[in-house]
Amino acid sequence: MDRYAVMGHPVSHSRSPQIHALFAKATGQEMVYERIGPEPDQFEAAVAKFRDEGGKGLNITLPFKERAFALADVQSVRAKAAGAANTLTFRDGRILADNTDGVGLVRDLVQNHCIQLKQKNVLLLGAGGAARGVIVPLLAERPTRLIIANRTPARAFAILEALITSGAVPQEYLQCCQVCGLDAIPGVHFDVVINATSSSLTGAVPEVPEAVFGPGTSAYDMVYGKGLTPFLRLAQARGATFLADGLGMLVEQAAESFYIWRHVFPPTGPVLQQLRTELE
Ligand code: ATR
Repeated sequence: MDRYAVMGHPVSHSRSPQIHALFAKATGQEMVYERIGPEPDQFEAAVAKFRDEGGKGLNITLPFKERAFALADVQSVRAKAAGAANTLTFRDGRILADNTDGVGLVRDLVQNHCIQLKQKNVLLLGAGGAARGVIVPLLAERPTRLIIANRTPARAFAILEALITSGAVPQEYLQCCQVCGLDAIPGVHFDVVINATSSSLTGAVPEVPEAVFGPGTSAYDMVYGKGLTPFLRLAQARGATFLADGLGMLVEQAAESFYIWRHVFPPTGPVLQQLRTELE
């Protein structure tokens, strides 16, 4: 049977095995999907072993996404732009790297929540791997303006510079893109505010000007959990109209990986509903 797995450290919390098992069942695909948690210095060896044993593909989670990107023979445009891979495919003797995080985010926003990005003012908070992984698919939606704001402004500038030098993004996509520190965000209502910082994991919130949220603002936290995340509570208190967490992004990025491997796009709605029920 075709073998797949998620690799991370730690990996025990990963919901990917459950998600892919549900996808396989729904689409009648014969496959197994495991969890592998190599020690940090054993990542490359663990990938090689899995591949030598006939493994077909891997999802990669923290802290290995950059190293997964580096060891691939072929890197997709979106992986190049992210500088990181969450999906490896072993095909015809080569390792192919892709990054499905951004398309997962955009699909969750646009298709599941009907939040359009085209000609909208979008604020992306954060400049770590999570933010970098989603910028190109966000830009491809052609917002009027995409501001990338980070507590440490230099990291936001570095992301933009890396994007420009990667050559992975058409020049005209970047014209709408600006970067700044959190305290330099323009004090206007944004249509969409996306939290790609890890602040919600520690119960903190990014300190953004009050005015960024208002009637008509959709707030999205790439983190998910039971109930509202701290960021979504802040957005609600400041008048945001629509709130969503990243559970849908998790399911949609998995669906895109599944599609890359199996050439069948699985139904995501029932899986998302099941995960949400279990979470609450
Ligand atoms: P990831 O790969 O999840 O993005 P990371 O590379 O460690 O993780 O980046 C974490 C991001 O969350 C960074 O943008 C970080 O801001 P700094 O670059 O200034 O450190 C941001 N972050 C974490 N906690 C935050 C907080 N309490 N307020 C604002 N930003 C925060």
